[in-house]
Amino acid sequence: MERRRKILVVDDEPHNIVLLEGILTKLGYEVVSSENAVVALEKLDRTFDLVLSDVMMPVMNGFEFVAKIRENEETQDIPVIMVTTLSQKDDRLKAVSVGANDFITKPIDLVELRIRTESMLKQKSQQDEIKSFQSDLHAMVENRTAELREALAKLDEAHVETIHHLCAAAEYKDEDTADHLIRMAEYSRIIAAEIGLDKKTVQLIHTSSPMHDIGKIGIPDSILLKPGKLDLEEWDIMKSHPIIGGKILSMGSSDYINMGAVIALSHHEKWNGSGYPSGLSGEKIPFPGRICAIADVFDALTSRRPYKEPFSVEKSLEIMKEGRGTHFDPQLIDVFFDKLDDILEILESSAD
Ligand SMILES: [Fe+2]
Repeated sequence: MERRRKILVVDDEPHNIVLLEGILTKLGYEVVSSENAVVALEKLDRTFDLVLSDVMMPVMNGFEFVAKIRENEETQDIPVIMVTTLSQKDDRLKAVSVGANDFITKPIDLVELRIRTESMLKQKSQQDEIKSFQSDLHAMVENRTAELREALAKLDEAHVETIHHLCAAAEYKDEDTADHLIRMAEYSRIIAAEIGLDKKTVQLIHTSSPMHDIGKIGIPDSILLKPGKLDLEEWDIMKSHPIIGGKILSMGSSDYINMGAVIALSHHEKWNGSGYPSGLSGEKIPFPGRICAIADVFDALTSRRPYKEPFSVEKSLEIMKEGRGTHFDPQLIDVFFDKLDDILEILESSAD
Protein backbone atom coordinates (compact mmCIF):
# COMPACT_ATOMS: atom_id res chain seq x y z
CA MET A 1 0.00 0.00 0.00
CA GLU A 2 1.21 3.45 -0.87
CA ARG A 3 2.23 5.54 2.12
CA ARG A 4 0.20 8.62 3.05
CA ARG A 5 1.72 11.76 1.58
CA LYS A 6 2.80 14.32 4.14
CA ILE A 7 2.16 18.04 3.71
CA LEU A 8 3.37 20.98 5.79
CA VAL A 9 0.97 23.95 5.94
CA VAL A 10 2.25 27.34 7.08
CA ASP A 11 -0.04 30.33 7.56
CA ASP A 12 -0.16 32.99 10.26
CA GLU A 13 -3.95 33.08 10.15
CA PRO A 14 -5.42 30.20 12.17
CA HIS A 15 -8.64 30.04 10.17
CA ASN A 16 -6.67 29.46 6.97
CA ILE A 17 -4.85 26.61 8.65
CA VAL A 18 -8.09 25.05 9.81
CA LEU A 19 -9.49 25.33 6.29
CA LEU A 20 -6.44 23.83 4.57
CA GLU A 21 -6.05 21.08 7.17
CA GLY A 22 -9.67 20.13 6.73
CA ILE A 23 -9.53 19.91 2.94
CA LEU A 24 -6.15 18.15 2.74
CA THR A 25 -7.01 15.61 5.44
CA LYS A 26 -10.20 14.82 3.58
CA LEU A 27 -8.17 14.28 0.43
CA GLY A 28 -6.23 11.63 2.37
CA TYR A 29 -3.03 13.50 3.20
CA GLU A 30 -1.21 13.67 6.49
CA VAL A 31 -1.04 17.34 7.49
CA VAL A 32 1.37 19.10 9.84
CA SER A 33 0.83 22.81 10.33
CA SER A 34 2.36 25.90 11.85
CA GLU A 35 1.46 29.57 12.19
CA ASN A 36 5.07 30.60 12.19
CA ALA A 37 7.63 29.91 9.45
CA VAL A 38 10.54 29.65 11.91
CA VAL A 39 8.75 26.91 13.83
CA ALA A 40 7.72 25.30 10.54
CA LEU A 41 11.37 25.08 9.50
CA GLU A 42 12.14 23.12 12.63
CA LYS A 43 9.35 20.67 11.85
CA LEU A 44 10.28 20.22 8.21
CA ASP A 45 12.43 17.22 7.30
CA ARG A 46 12.96 14.83 4.40
CA THR A 47 9.79 12.88 5.22
CA PHE A 48 7.59 15.69 3.86
CA ASP A 49 6.31 15.59 0.29
CA LEU A 50 4.98 19.12 -0.09
CA VAL A 51 4.86 22.53 1.59
CA LEU A 52 1.95 24.94 1.30
CA SER A 53 3.01 28.35 2.54
CA ASP A 54 1.47 31.76 2.96
CA VAL A 55 3.57 34.71 1.78
CA MET A 56 2.81 37.63 4.05
CA MET A 57 3.69 36.45 7.56
CA PRO A 58 5.34 38.15 10.54
CA VAL A 59 8.71 36.92 11.94
CA MET A 60 9.67 35.25 8.66
CA ASN A 61 7.85 35.86 5.40
CA GLY A 62 7.18 33.25 2.71
CA PHE A 63 10.11 34.33 0.51
CA GLU A 64 12.64 33.89 3.30
CA PHE A 65 10.96 30.66 4.31
CA VAL A 66 11.31 29.13 0.82
CA ALA A 67 14.90 30.34 0.57
CA LYS A 68 15.71 28.55 3.85
CA ILE A 69 14.06 25.35 2.61
CA ARG A 70 16.23 25.45 -0.51
CA GLU A 71 19.42 26.10 1.48
CA ASN A 72 19.03 22.93 3.51
CA GLU A 73 20.28 19.79 1.78
CA GLU A 74 17.68 17.67 3.52
CA THR A 75 14.72 19.76 2.41
CA GLN A 76 15.89 21.40 -0.81
CA ASP A 77 13.97 19.06 -3.11
CA ILE A 78 10.58 19.34 -1.38
CA PRO A 79 8.15 21.21 -3.64
CA VAL A 80 6.60 24.41 -2.31
CA ILE A 81 3.27 25.92 -3.31
CA MET A 82 2.76 29.54 -2.29
CA VAL A 83 -0.76 30.31 -1.12
CA THR A 84 -1.09 34.00 -1.82
CA THR A 85 -3.26 36.96 -2.55
CA LEU A 86 -0.33 38.37 -4.45
CA SER A 87 -1.25 38.88 -8.00
CA GLN A 88 1.53 41.20 -8.97
CA LYS A 89 4.00 39.79 -11.40
CA ASP A 90 7.04 41.01 -9.42
CA ASP A 91 6.04 39.11 -6.31
CA ARG A 92 5.44 35.92 -8.24
CA LEU A 93 8.81 36.29 -9.93
CA LYS A 94 10.44 36.83 -6.57
CA ALA A 95 8.77 33.69 -5.21
CA VAL A 96 10.00 31.66 -8.18
CA SER A 97 13.48 33.09 -7.89
CA VAL A 98 13.79 31.94 -4.26
CA GLY A 99 12.53 28.50 -5.19
CA ALA A 100 8.72 28.27 -5.08
CA ASN A 101 7.25 25.75 -7.51
CA ASP A 102 3.65 26.87 -7.89
CA PHE A 103 0.95 29.26 -6.63
CA ILE A 104 -2.57 29.02 -5.32
CA THR A 105 -4.57 32.19 -5.09
CA LYS A 106 -6.52 33.18 -2.02
CA PRO A 107 -9.42 32.82 -1.41
CA ILE A 108 -8.76 29.14 -1.83
CA ASP A 109 -10.67 27.31 -4.49
CA LEU A 110 -11.13 23.65 -3.57
CA VAL A 111 -10.66 22.29 -7.08
CA GLU A 112 -7.60 24.40 -7.73
CA LEU A 113 -6.06 23.27 -4.45
CA ARG A 114 -6.70 19.61 -5.21
CA ILE A 115 -5.35 19.78 -8.77
CA ARG A 116 -2.21 21.74 -7.94
CA THR A 117 -1.48 19.60 -4.88
CA GLU A 118 -1.91 16.35 -6.78
CA SER A 119 0.19 17.60 -9.63
CA MET A 120 3.04 18.66 -7.32
CA LEU A 121 2.89 15.39 -5.40
CA LYS A 122 3.04 13.44 -8.64
CA GLN A 123 6.17 15.31 -9.65
CA LYS A 124 7.64 14.67 -6.24
CA SER A 125 6.93 10.91 -6.54
CA GLN A 126 8.66 10.76 -9.91
CA GLN A 127 11.60 12.68 -8.53
CA ASP A 128 11.79 10.30 -5.54
CA GLU A 129 11.71 7.31 -7.85
CA ILE A 130 14.58 8.69 -9.92
CA LYS A 131 16.56 9.42 -6.78
CA SER A 132 15.96 5.96 -5.39
CA PHE A 133 16.90 4.41 -8.73
CA GLN A 134 20.11 6.48 -8.83
CA SER A 135 20.95 5.51 -5.30
CA ASP A 136 20.31 1.80 -6.04
CA LEU A 137 22.42 2.09 -9.16
CA HIS A 138 25.20 3.79 -7.24
CA ALA A 139 25.12 1.06 -4.58
CA MET A 140 25.14 -1.61 -7.26
CA VAL A 141 28.13 -0.03 -9.03
CA GLU A 142 29.97 0.28 -5.71
CA ASN A 143 29.22 -3.35 -4.93
CA ARG A 144 30.35 -4.61 -8.30
CA THR A 145 33.47 -2.44 -8.17
CA ALA A 146 34.35 -3.85 -4.75
CA GLU A 147 33.80 -7.39 -6.06
CA LEU A 148 35.98 -6.68 -9.07
CA ARG A 149 38.67 -5.14 -6.89
CA GLU A 150 38.61 -8.18 -4.64
CA ALA A 151 38.83 -10.54 -7.63
CA LEU A 152 41.77 -8.57 -9.02
CA ALA A 153 43.52 -8.62 -5.65
CA LYS A 154 43.01 -12.39 -5.48
CA LEU A 155 44.35 -12.77 -8.99
CA ASP A 156 47.38 -10.67 -8.11
CA GLU A 157 47.89 -12.72 -4.95
CA ALA A 158 47.75 -15.93 -6.97
CA HIS A 159 50.18 -14.45 -9.45
CA VAL A 160 52.66 -13.45 -6.76
CA GLU A 161 52.26 -16.84 -5.12
CA THR A 162 53.05 -18.58 -8.41
CA ILE A 163 56.18 -16.47 -8.73
CA HIS A 164 57.28 -17.44 -5.23
CA HIS A 165 56.80 -21.13 -6.01
CA LEU A 166 58.62 -20.78 -9.30
CA CYS A 167 61.55 -19.17 -7.48
CA ALA A 168 61.47 -21.81 -4.75
CA ALA A 169 61.58 -24.52 -7.44
CA ALA A 170 64.52 -22.84 -9.12
CA GLU A 171 66.40 -22.49 -5.85
CA TYR A 172 65.53 -25.99 -4.63
CA LYS A 173 68.87 -27.60 -5.47
CA ASP A 174 70.91 -24.53 -4.77
CA GLU A 175 72.47 -23.39 -1.55
CA ASP A 176 70.15 -20.41 -1.45
CA THR A 177 67.23 -20.74 0.85
CA ALA A 178 63.76 -19.29 0.89
CA ASP A 179 65.11 -16.94 3.56
CA HIS A 180 67.67 -15.63 1.11
CA LEU A 181 64.89 -14.77 -1.34
CA ILE A 182 62.84 -13.03 1.32
CA ARG A 183 65.76 -10.99 2.68
CA MET A 184 67.01 -10.07 -0.74
CA ALA A 185 63.52 -8.92 -1.76
CA GLU A 186 63.23 -6.87 1.43
CA TYR A 187 66.60 -5.17 0.94
CA SER A 188 65.64 -4.35 -2.63
CA ARG A 189 62.30 -2.95 -1.49
CA ILE A 190 63.95 -0.73 1.14
CA ILE A 191 66.37 0.77 -1.38
CA ALA A 192 63.71 1.17 -4.08
CA ALA A 193 61.35 2.93 -1.67
CA GLU A 194 64.06 5.23 -0.35
CA ILE A 195 65.02 6.56 -3.79
CA GLY A 196 61.45 7.75 -4.21
CA LEU A 197 60.15 5.31 -6.83
CA ASP A 198 56.39 5.16 -7.06
CA LYS A 199 54.59 2.56 -4.94
CA LYS A 200 53.81 0.27 -7.88
CA THR A 201 57.43 0.09 -9.04
CA VAL A 202 58.62 -0.54 -5.49
CA GLN A 203 56.13 -3.40 -5.23
CA LEU A 204 57.21 -4.75 -8.63
CA ILE A 205 60.86 -4.79 -7.60
CA HIS A 206 59.96 -6.36 -4.27
CA THR A 207 57.96 -9.15 -5.87
CA SER A 208 60.23 -9.73 -8.86
CA SER A 209 63.68 -9.59 -7.25
CA PRO A 210 63.49 -13.24 -6.02
CA MET A 211 63.52 -14.25 -9.69
CA HIS A 212 67.09 -12.95 -10.10
CA ASP A 213 68.73 -16.40 -10.06
CA ILE A 214 65.99 -18.34 -11.78
CA GLY A 215 68.42 -19.12 -14.62
CA LYS A 216 70.41 -21.37 -12.26
CA ILE A 217 67.82 -24.00 -13.10
CA GLY A 218 69.74 -24.40 -16.38
CA ILE A 219 73.16 -24.86 -14.74
CA PRO A 220 74.30 -28.49 -14.39
CA ASP A 221 74.30 -29.84 -10.85
CA SER A 222 77.99 -30.74 -11.16
CA ILE A 223 78.73 -27.02 -11.35
CA LEU A 224 75.93 -25.59 -9.28
CA LEU A 225 76.53 -27.93 -6.36
CA LYS A 226 80.32 -28.23 -6.63
CA PRO A 227 81.73 -27.80 -3.14
CA GLY A 228 85.11 -26.51 -4.29
CA LYS A 229 86.18 -23.64 -6.50
CA LEU A 230 84.93 -23.61 -10.09
CA ASP A 231 87.50 -23.83 -12.87
CA LEU A 232 87.44 -21.28 -15.66
CA GLU A 233 85.22 -23.28 -17.97
CA GLU A 234 82.77 -24.09 -15.17
CA TRP A 235 82.73 -20.46 -14.15
CA ASP A 236 81.85 -19.45 -17.70
CA ILE A 237 78.89 -21.82 -17.60
CA MET A 238 77.87 -20.50 -14.20
CA LYS A 239 78.01 -16.97 -15.58
CA SER A 240 75.36 -17.85 -18.13
CA HIS A 241 72.62 -17.98 -15.48
CA PRO A 242 71.52 -14.35 -16.05
CA ILE A 243 71.02 -15.05 -19.77
CA ILE A 244 69.14 -18.28 -19.07
CA GLY A 245 66.99 -16.43 -16.52
CA GLY A 246 66.34 -13.64 -19.00
CA LYS A 247 65.26 -16.22 -21.61
CA ILE A 248 62.99 -18.10 -19.20
CA LEU A 249 61.26 -14.86 -18.28
CA SER A 250 61.28 -13.22 -21.72
CA MET A 251 58.20 -12.03 -23.55
CA GLY A 252 55.93 -12.25 -20.53
CA SER A 253 52.74 -10.22 -20.48
CA SER A 254 52.94 -9.70 -16.73
CA ASP A 255 54.71 -6.70 -15.23
CA TYR A 256 56.17 -8.98 -12.56
CA ILE A 257 57.66 -11.38 -15.10
CA ASN A 258 58.98 -8.51 -17.24
CA MET A 259 60.61 -6.92 -14.20
CA GLY A 260 61.96 -10.36 -13.25
CA ALA A 261 63.55 -10.68 -16.70
CA VAL A 262 65.26 -7.28 -16.34
CA ILE A 263 66.57 -8.18 -12.89
CA ALA A 264 67.68 -11.69 -13.88
CA LEU A 265 69.65 -10.30 -16.81
CA SER A 266 71.29 -7.39 -15.02
CA HIS A 267 71.92 -8.34 -11.37
CA HIS A 268 75.56 -9.32 -12.03
CA GLU A 269 76.46 -6.23 -14.04
CA LYS A 270 78.89 -3.91 -12.27
CA TRP A 271 78.96 -0.12 -12.21
CA ASN A 272 82.47 -0.01 -13.73
CA GLY A 273 81.54 -2.35 -16.58
CA SER A 274 83.41 -5.40 -15.31
CA GLY A 275 80.31 -7.47 -14.60
CA TYR A 276 78.45 -10.02 -16.68
CA PRO A 277 76.78 -11.06 -18.94
CA SER A 278 76.88 -7.83 -21.01
CA GLY A 279 79.58 -5.77 -19.32
CA LEU A 280 77.21 -2.82 -19.06
CA SER A 281 78.40 0.14 -17.01
CA GLY A 282 76.90 3.03 -15.04
CA GLU A 283 73.35 3.98 -15.83
CA LYS A 284 73.27 1.65 -18.82
CA ILE A 285 72.58 -1.06 -16.25
CA PRO A 286 68.81 -1.03 -15.60
CA PHE A 287 68.24 0.46 -12.14
CA PRO A 288 66.33 -2.59 -10.78
CA GLY A 289 69.44 -4.65 -11.60
CA ARG A 290 71.66 -2.11 -9.80
CA ILE A 291 69.39 -2.25 -6.75
CA CYS A 292 69.28 -6.06 -6.70
CA ALA A 293 73.07 -6.32 -7.11
CA ILE A 294 73.46 -4.54 -3.77
CA ALA A 295 70.77 -6.65 -2.08
CA ASP A 296 72.10 -9.92 -3.52
CA VAL A 297 75.76 -9.33 -2.63
CA PHE A 298 75.02 -8.13 0.90
CA ASP A 299 72.91 -11.19 1.55
CA ALA A 300 75.54 -13.54 0.09
CA LEU A 301 78.22 -11.96 2.32
CA THR A 302 76.20 -12.29 5.49
CA SER A 303 74.95 -15.82 4.72
CA ARG A 304 76.44 -19.24 5.37
CA ARG A 305 77.38 -21.23 2.27
CA PRO A 306 78.69 -24.80 1.98
CA TYR A 307 82.08 -23.34 1.14
CA LYS A 308 82.08 -20.37 3.55
CA GLU A 309 81.01 -19.14 6.95
CA PRO A 310 78.99 -15.91 7.01
CA PHE A 311 81.12 -12.80 7.18
CA SER A 312 80.54 -10.58 10.18
CA VAL A 313 78.27 -7.59 9.58
CA GLU A 314 81.26 -5.26 9.98
CA LYS A 315 83.34 -7.16 7.43
CA SER A 316 80.39 -7.39 5.03
CA LEU A 317 79.72 -3.65 5.25
CA GLU A 318 83.39 -2.96 4.64
CA ILE A 319 83.26 -5.01 1.44
CA MET A 320 80.06 -3.25 0.38
CA LYS A 321 81.73 0.12 0.93
CA GLU A 322 84.73 -0.93 -1.14
CA GLY A 323 82.36 -1.72 -3.99
CA ARG A 324 81.09 1.88 -4.14
CA GLY A 325 81.56 3.15 -7.69
CA THR A 326 83.26 -0.07 -8.85
CA HIS A 327 80.75 -2.85 -8.27
CA PHE A 328 77.82 -0.74 -7.08
CA ASP A 329 76.03 2.41 -8.19
CA PRO A 330 77.53 4.98 -5.76
CA GLN A 331 74.22 6.74 -5.16
CA LEU A 332 72.36 3.51 -4.48
CA ILE A 333 75.05 2.19 -2.13
CA ASP A 334 74.78 5.50 -0.23
CA VAL A 335 71.05 4.86 0.08
CA PHE A 336 71.83 1.34 1.32
CA PHE A 337 74.00 2.83 4.09
CA ASP A 338 71.41 5.53 4.84
CA LYS A 339 68.87 2.77 5.46
CA LEU A 340 71.30 0.48 7.26
CA ASP A 341 69.16 0.29 10.41
CA ASP A 342 66.24 -1.10 8.41
CA ILE A 343 68.51 -3.45 6.47
CA LEU A 344 70.09 -4.85 9.64
CA GLU A 345 66.68 -5.25 11.21
CA ILE A 346 65.71 -7.57 8.33
CA LEU A 347 69.00 -9.45 8.69
CA GLU A 348 68.59 -9.89 12.43
CA SER A 349 64.96 -10.96 12.21
CA SER A 350 65.84 -13.65 9.69
CA ALA A 351 66.15 -17.20 11.01
CA ASP A 352 69.06 -18.09 8.75
FE1 LIG B 1 72.93 -14.53 -9.64
